[in-house]
Amino acid sequence: MDGNGRWARARGLPRIEGHRRGSNAVREALQGCRDLGIRYLTLYAFSSENWRRPQDEVSGLLGLLATYLKKETAELVKNRVRLRVIGRPQDLPENVQQQIRRTMEKTAAFTEHTLTLALSYGSRQEVIEAIRAYAREVAAGREDPDTCSWEVFRRYLYTRDMPDPDLIIRTSGESRLSNFLMLQAAYSELYFTPVLWPDFTREHLFEAVEAFRKRERRYGMTGDQLRDASTPAT
Ligand code: FPP
Repeated sequence: MDGNGRWARARGLPRIEGHRRGSNAVREALQGCRDLGIRYLTLYAFSSENWRRPQDEVSGLLGLLATYLKKETAELVKNRVRLRVIGRPQDLPENVQQQIRRTMEKTAAFTEHTLTLALSYGSRQEVIEAIRAYAREVAAGREDPDTCSWEVFRRYLYTRDMPDPDLIIRTSGESRLSNFLMLQAAYSELYFTPVLWPDFTREHLFEAVEAFRKRERRYGMTGDQLRDASTPAT
């Protein structure tokens, strides 16, 4: 969700105004996913590196997040959307953690749609935490490194209960993953748009999904192999 700061600067507004408008775009994106039948939406809301921003921007952003959740919980319940968090929510201020817990508890039973917020999230940190947890299991004799596979290791990632992303959208004209779901993105389609996040509407989401639909995902195979595999056997 990139470009909030530039959106605000272009209007002579404080950066936090850009983030505030960005939280409205979150509502749009979630609604768009529901319309399209997309079951998992994961938002990179606060990275492990975002702690380096000025203190007032960090507290403003986390305050906005708590306000958003407080205001939107009833809507999430109404639309049967479950809230999940990946990253290190334990690093967030206690009042923000409390709001997250409240919303998660109220939405825990829903399975149709999942909104996942990446908070204090970074891929490299995720991998290090997974390695530590895996190594502890090896030391306890519950894991055997000789039989470690991707299927085994992925169970130690924050995303253990989620499918890998099919499509990753980054707004604001930047073409980087910036430490977001680096391992899970191995076969994701990447979509970069110049639109700044506060301006990102449902229509922009539909365009991105339409572009995704036209791509051929080969997973290391040839295009011919894929076409043969999708031709029904006679
Ligand atoms: C990047 O734009 C955006 C963020 C670091 C925060 C995103 C947060 C929100 C949209 C609001 C709160 C979240 C939710 C889920 C309600 P930037 O500040 O780096 O923009 P810039 O590159 O133009 O400066």
